[in-house]
This record gives sequence, C-alpha cells and structure tokens, in this order.
Amino acid sequence: MKKIRVMSVFGTRPEAIKMAPLVKTLAEREDFESLCCLTGQHREMLDSVMDIFRLKADYDLNIMQKQQTLSSITTRTLLGMETVLEEAKPDLVLVHGDTSTTFAGALAAFYRKIPVGHVEAGLRTYDKYSPYPEEMNRTLVGDLADLHFSPTAANAENLRKEAVSGEVFITGNTVIDAMRTTVREDFRFAEPELNAMDFANRRVIVLTCHRRENYGKPMHDILRAVRQIVVTHPEVEVVYPVHLSPVVRACAKEELGDTERVHLIDPIDVEQMHNLMARCHFVMTDSGGLQEEAPALGKPVLVLRRETERPEAVAAGTVKLAGVEYDEIVRMASELLEQPTVYHKMAQAVNPYGDGNACARIADAIAWHFGNQETRPENFQP
Ligand code: UD1
Ligand code: UDP
Repeated sequence: MKKIRVMSVFGTRPEAIKMAPLVKTLAEREDFESLCCLTGQHREMLDSVMDIFRLKADYDLNIMQKQQTLSSITTRTLLGMETVLEEAKPDLVLVHGDTSTTFAGALAAFYRKIPVGHVEAGLRTYDKYSPYPEEMNRTLVGDLADLHFSPTAANAENLRKEAVSGEVFITGNTVIDAMRTTVREDFRFAEPELNAMDFANRRVIVLTCHRRENYGKPMHDILRAVRQIVVTHPEVEVVYPVHLSPVVRACAKEELGDTERVHLIDPIDVEQMHNLMARCHFVMTDSGGLQEEAPALGKPVLVLRRETERPEAVAAGTVKLAGVEYDEIVRMASELLEQPTVYHKMAQAVNPYGDGNACARIADAIAWHFGNQETRPENFQP
C-alpha cells in the first residue's frame, strides 16, 4: 500500500488547536506520511499550541509582521508555499477553517494542481463582510477544495446547496478531539492569578474579543458593557486573555485597564484556556472556537457578534447572540447573572459539534478517496 503524503498547512492559534489532533492521528497511521507546514501568521500564539501538543514543523514560512495586512499575509504565504510545495510534493494539502492562511494555502496548492482537503468546511453566515474576511475565505476555499470535511450536517447542507465539486464528509469538529486531552479535573494553572481565583464563590466570566469586524466602535461598546456588568455585580470577576493584536490590546487597556475585578492577562496556553472555561460561570466572546468548546463543557455563551455561523448550539439553547450594542449586552449578561432559571436552561452540556472521533473519520475519508480503504467512513451524528 502506497503511503499517502499529506501536508497540513496552518498558521494561527485556532487552526493549530484544531489541526493538532489530526496531524497526530495521521502521523500515527501506517498508511500516511504526515508533513506540517506553518505559515507563522501568528508567532507566539502558534508556538504555544505547537509546544502543548508536542508538534514539530517540517516547514515554517515565518510570515508574521507587526501590523500585518490581509494582503501581506496572503501574498507572503502564496510566495512561501511555492518553494515548499515544489520540494515536498504532497499528494494532498490540508487547510483548516477560514483564515488568510487557509485561503492562501489552498490557492497555492491549487496553482500546483495538488488536491486540497478543507477541514471545518461549509460554515456560513452568507454575509460577506461578517465575519470579515473569514466568510469570503471559507467560501473561496469551498470552490478550491476537493475533499470537504464538514463538522455538522448543516455545514454539509450549505455546501450541497452551493453545489461545490468534490466529496463532502460529515466528521464532527476536531476541537472536540483536542479537548479529550486538555481538560482535566485536577488541572493546576501555571498562571498564579488563575490558581488564586475562587471559582466556587465568585462568578467568573471568561471574556475574549478580537474580531476584525468588531474593531473600533463595536469593540469599545462591548468592553464598556463588560465594565458596567462588573461595576453593578460585586460577585463578578472577569478574566480576559487579551489577543496579541495591537488594535485589540489598545482597546482593552483603554476600556478595562483600570477596572477592579477585571483581569486583563496575556493569551494563555490552550490547556489553561480549556480548564479555565471548565471552571467559569459563563463565557462572553466573539471567537468561533469558544462557541464550540463552551457548550461541550456545559457553560452558557453570550456571543458578541451580530450573527453566527454556528447555529447548532443556539438551537440547543446554550449559546445566545448578544450582538455588539451596549444596552443589549448589559441586559443579557445581567439576566444570566440574576435569573437562575435562565442560567440553568443554558448551562447544559450539549455537543452538537463532535464526539471526539473527527480526526479518525477524516483520516479514513482520505484513505478511502485515495483507494487505500474500501469503505467510506460513516457520517458523524450528534
Ligand atoms: C486571525 C484570523 C482570524 C482568527 C484569528 C484567531 C485572518 C484574516 N484572521 O486574526 O480569522 O479568528 O486569527 O486568533 O486570517 N500577533 C502577535 N503574535 C501572535 C499573534 C498575533 O504579535 O502570536 C499580532 C500581530 O501584530 C498581528 C496581529 O496580532 O499583526 C493580528 O494578527 P492577524 O493574524 O493579522 O489577525 P487576527 O486578528 O489574529
Ligand atoms: N484560546 C487559547 N488561549 C487564549 C484564548 C483562546 O488557547 O488565551 C483558544 C480557545 O480555547 C480556542 C481558540 O483559542 O480553542 C480560539 O481562538 P481565537 O479566539 O483566537 O480564534 P477563533 O476561534 O475566533 O477563530
């Protein structure tokens, strides 16, 4: 049996967290040769994930610049990938999700006529500027890809409606696979501030906010709303691991820098993050990944965006769209803090996003596509 040579290309924190278990699965199997190419779109935040999952890169384009633009990420990735693909000659390139690394990685493979597999395929808002530029990135990759690995049936249905070419598999989300190794009851935080936190007697809200479409007024309004919630609820502590983007850091410092019981900390490694969420009261976020992780941990989520491409947990009742307006965010967070019935209705562990076997399904699907395996893997069903 010929080994299938698969190159996984990723560059940001969330891609790394969700690709790490897949890279490991492929490396453990006899029928694959697994290569890993980092774009380095993120540097510190990416390296932290590589360390936690003990992964080593075969190639690293190291493209990150301090105030990088979408064009610079895309062009530097495209140019860098040219040499890498020429040298490595993979049978398949895997990309993940919707970042600029994802789009440029897929395009570079297409230019060399190398088949593309898209992990986390088919998420859509159908609003091209929200999330920006992610909605367009993932739509374009949908056209470039030959194999589409959709986390849920709804994601696969979007691709079917768009009549994309290639094979669509429903696999579950690989982040649930990753969480099988990160979340532990006896976990101790490396951050002293987190170890000292009284999770039993305080109401700890985990906050993250970083999206480009929230830059400017929406982000200021969101963070002002958080300040108001803290001021009016003395039992609340907010932990906000602030993204390394200079735009985000300036806004966080301005709006929350001097607020008592708001802990602005640097990004924490993924093990600490998952265990922090497992212990918190609820989550407020504009992140995509947190909307998948928190429901699995039984934690309510208020989404700080106007829309979401992840409707499954909204339907299940654990996630609510709070939007980006000051009044509505204050109202919804206060309701969650003050009305136990509202809280308990949302705090149910639901797992529409995966069963922890997404990576095995993806590996089987690739093996089937290349003729190394006779049966097509069964679709994931929640
Ligand atoms: C990117 C993705 C977004 C994803 C997010 C996850 C694009 C266009 N956006 O957005 O989809 O949700 O990552 O976090 O691909 N920085 C560092 N060190 C790091 C990481 C970032 O200094 O380890 C700083 C750099 O100054 C960089 C800035 O953060 O210029 C922004 O990073 P960038 O990748 O351009 O955009 P994100 O907002 O992180
Ligand atoms: N995360 C982390 N440390 C942090 C903040 C987030 O490890 O300080 C993890 C989080 O658990 C999730 C992923 O990073 O797995 C989400 O990344 P991000 O919010 O940057 O991107 P998005 O999901 O919005 O694309």
